[in-house]
Amino acid sequence: MKIFVDSANLGDIEEALKRGFPRGITTNPSILAKEPKGDFKKHIEKIIGLLVKYNYQIPLSVEVFTNDAKEMVRQGEDFIKSFDYPHVNVKIPVGWAGLEAIRELRQRGIQVNCTCCMSYNQAVMAAMAGANFVSLFYGRIRDVGYDAFSVVKQVRETFRQWNYPSEIIVGSIRHICDINEALQAGADIITVPPKFFEQMVSHPKTDEAVDQFLTDFKHWMS
Ligand code: E4P
Repeated sequence: MKIFVDSANLGDIEEALKRGFPRGITTNPSILAKEPKGDFKKHIEKIIGLLVKYNYQIPLSVEVFTNDAKEMVRQGEDFIKSFDYPHVNVKIPVGWAGLEAIRELRQRGIQVNCTCCMSYNQAVMAAMAGANFVSLFYGRIRDVGYDAFSVVKQVRETFRQWNYPSEIIVGSIRHICDINEALQAGADIITVPPKFFEQMVSHPKTDEAVDQFLTDFKHWMS
């Protein structure tokens, strides 16, 4: 069970890294587009700089920005050559072109996260093509009325039954309950937007207990 940071925001990433729980970082073109306009590679390098600063050796997903299989491979190879960090994986959108790129990148020893998976069969095909990670989009699956929990559970059971090593990442998190459900469905990894992190460790009864302890102790000490 692992939590990844689903963001390219340097401040949010740093705050998470300070707290020890991240086991990876995922970005995508839209996540990057939320950050101040600038050089794409320089921004990724800044993320890598934070990983090095806080002494993390964890996966960092960087997504291609093309629909063409050969260009996907070219961009993926360029990422690996460009970034001085051994845990970069290339995010490839699932599809007919994506499967070709996944196999080619894997043949070259490059780690692949097959993303934008919305169904059981997409995830299975991605795993069969050799993807190291398969990313299921919980929120978007639900957007069109499908039971995301069942999709994750079925993929989990099939990968386990056939000993597929691909790790299941669940993204497209819209609520904390998505995180809890996806973990219970058997996801290996949940990639979570930073806005949920503080909520995940907060509870009004915890605040109440801590306040009471501090108050009682201050009275006893006074
Ligand atoms: C994972 O990294 C996905 O790219 C991300 O979680 C997608 O989230 P969205 O469906 O809210 O765009």
